Amino acid sequence: MSSSLPRHSLATRTIHGSLALAVMIQLGSSLVMRHAYGDRPGNIFFPIHEYAGMIAFALALVFWLTVIARRIGTAPGALVPWFSAARRRALIADVQSYLQAARRFSLPAHDEGGAFPSAIHGLGLLLISYMALSGTVYYIMSLFGLGRAPVVHLLMELHGLFGNVVWAYLIAHAALALLHHVTRNLPLNVMWSLKS
Ligand code: HEM
Ligand code: HEM
Repeated sequence: MSSSLPRHSLATRTIHGSLALAVMIQLGSSLVMRHAYGDRPGNIFFPIHEYAGMIAFALALVFWLTVIARRIGTAPGALVPWFSAARRRALIADVQSYLQAARRFSLPAHDEGGAFPSAIHGLGLLLISYMALSGTVYYIMSLFGLGRAPVVHLLMELHGLFGNVVWAYLIAHAALALLHHVTRNLPLNVMWSLKS
């Protein structure tokens, strides 16, 4: 980057990498885990999914706190633009520039303060927060024998459904990050570096 200031603080980069790793463990374990049911035994990947998921919950909380407390990086309002008329207008204008570029089979140049990518990043973080929170609620309620209560059942139905969206988010987000890297718009080490 040309600027001497890093685009993302060390705290943001560390928490982003840790959360991304935790989400990959969650998606990987979800493919092979087996829940004990009646006489059918479970397997080791189920507790791995539960404990790594609760670590992901703590990491998602720390990510939100970092976003609120940091002085370098995307403004919290850019990640969650839905409650500000000015930010919603900026988002619509940015989406239109993406649509125009898509008609030419191209991408707009990477914009550091881009309203659309920031809003998508915020939705991704909200999605992961929901996954981790719903799983943690299920775990705690199960300790009290309430793992099958209707509200917990609904939370976990959505957990299963949104699991597919997490796959789509991870694949699309990582693919765009790689595309920006190879087109030299945004090198990967802007986010994936532990330099202070
Ligand atoms: C599911 C796991 C992931 C989640 C939840 C996630 C979430 C996020 C969020 C919330 C941001 C915005 C951070 C901010 O502005 O403060 C971000 C930025 C970024 N992510 Fe991820 N990420 C994940 C995985 C990945 C992976 C696997 C890669 C690369 C292969 C990646 C590359 C990047 C890059 C390069 C940025 C910086 C974008 C910019 O500065 O405009 N992320 N990510
Ligand atoms: C970032 C956090 C998490 C992610 C990304 C995630 C992802 C997933 C995915 C993709 C599935 C498979 C859905 C399906 O194929 O139907 C799943 C299922 C499940 N997860 Fe998570 N999970 C997370 C956190 C947790 C936590 C914290 C717990 C509990 C402590 C948990 C408990 C479960 C259970 C019990 C299932 C099985 C649901 C069923 O079979 O109906 N998850 N999760």
